[in-house]
Amino acid sequence: MSKWIRIASIDDCPPGTACELVVEDRIIALYNIDGTFHALDGICPHQGGPLGKGTLTGCVVTCPWHGWQFDVTTGQHQTSASLRHAPFAVKVDNDAVWVDLEG
Ligand code: FES
Repeated sequence: MSKWIRIASIDDCPPGTACELVVEDRIIALYNIDGTFHALDGICPHQGGPLGKGTLTGCVVTCPWHGWQFDVTTGQHQTSASLRHAPFAVKVDNDAVWVDLEG
């Protein structure tokens, strides 16, 4: 089952940046990698840090609280193979960014 929600305009999150968005009581971390958008749950699985306010280097975000790093395209933790922060499906339609909250 899918639940697509419009979360931003493409201009809200320029290439190379991360954005924190609140959508239906959830915090979403949105990333723009060279014009392609990716989204993760915005709550870091370590201790709840804001992944949408992390530092983006290429496709890797660094959590601002303790430095855990995730590939935003897959949610894969960069040093623990067993830890993956599930990404949301993202699409762009008419200059709007949509996320599937239940996909
Ligand atoms: S809360 Fe993100 S690394 Fe600790």
